[in-house]
Amino acid sequence: MSSKFIPINLPIIGSDEVKAVKAVLESNTLTEKRNMGPETLKFEEAFANYIGVKHAIAVNSGSAALHACLLALDLKKDQEVIVPTFSFVASASMVIHAGARVKFADVNPMTFNLDVDNVKKVISDKTRAIMPVHLYGHPVNMDPILELAEKKDIAVIEDACQAHGAEYKGKKVGSLGNAGCFSFYPSKNMTTGEGGMITTNDGELADVIRQIRNHGESENYLTTRLGHNFRMSEIIAAIGTVQLKRLDDFIKVRTQNADYLTKIINEIEKRPYNPPIVEAHVKHSWYLYTVKFEEVEKRDPFIVYMQKNNIGTGVYYSTPLHLMPLYRELYDLGPGSFPVSEYATRQVLSIPINPSISKSQMEFIGETIKNFPIEKV
Ligand SMILES: Cc1ncc(COP(=O)(O)O)c(C=O)c1O
Repeated sequence: MSSKFIPINLPIIGSDEVKAVKAVLESNTLTEKRNMGPETLKFEEAFANYIGVKHAIAVNSGSAALHACLLALDLKKDQEVIVPTFSFVASASMVIHAGARVKFADVNPMTFNLDVDNVKKVISDKTRAIMPVHLYGHPVNMDPILELAEKKDIAVIEDACQAHGAEYKGKKVGSLGNAGCFSFYPSKNMTTGEGGMITTNDGELADVIRQIRNHGESENYLTTRLGHNFRMSEIIAAIGTVQLKRLDDFIKVRTQNADYLTKIINEIEKRPYNPPIVEAHVKHSWYLYTVKFEEVEKRDPFIVYMQKNNIGTGVYYSTPLHLMPLYRELYDLGPGSFPVSEYATRQVLSIPINPSISKSQMEFIGETIKNFPIEKV
């Protein structure tokens, strides 16, 4: 057993983050209402450069990023946004907050991501946008989705909340659709505690989102459209600038740990699960290392076994969105509607690879995995 519990994810905050926060507190500029403060502008510029887009707009959560983008589309109440049902609930609920309908789609069984075939099954003349979610940090196969969206003249909002630094065909996610949305929640590849960012190359869209971030004001105290308080504080932005500088190093360690686990798992002759699939055209950012159980009845005993060894695991996600009580009732959905996602909830399990894990802890995880007594459970 490991002497210390090894969690799935853990924020890494160092003296540079502390120094940056202290400097903001001493500056006395904690937030700046209209154009945001200097720290926020600095963070936005650095993030836009990192993703390779013209504009980045900082907000106070990943949910706020999605909400602001969707509000910018001026959706009508019978219009639909296609969302994968195998995701975190914010992907769907922000569509409702923006006044439209969620149209769920199933995912593909290899990466658990949305794909164009599943989009085609649910697209209609009510569709205004598609929201590919780069689940676990593995980029969605975007080209076919972008092509379809262009043909139908609908928007693509990337939910990149789990995929900072991931790449699709050499381009960072968040630079592929009309806009990309990121979260800086503490479990993520980089964190500001709470926080979010929207990335886009569309200057007009960026201006609208900036207004929405601040109660829809086009001028000081003149509200022109529905908005919200989605502003980021200066304290948070200062942490973000430091974390962004560390992001590539964090991803490098995650990747090494992921490669190590994949090698170990592939060497186990009798195993109830397989390592995650990484498609050829992507750079995975390894927010989560998620194995896929072919023998689903072995997942619970494996979770208990890992827990006994002081290793945390996580099921992301145990209920598909269409079977959440809210959405079941709202859209009259039931089991069997999206079979791949429903089965995925029984198959997936994430194992820790985060950069706070030491080399010896990683080796311990590897040994523990190898010694799982499969015949006895
Ligand atoms: C796929 C996805 N979308 C949206 C969000 C929402 O981000 P936040 O928690 O920062 O509001 C998250 C965060 O967990 C997420 O994983």
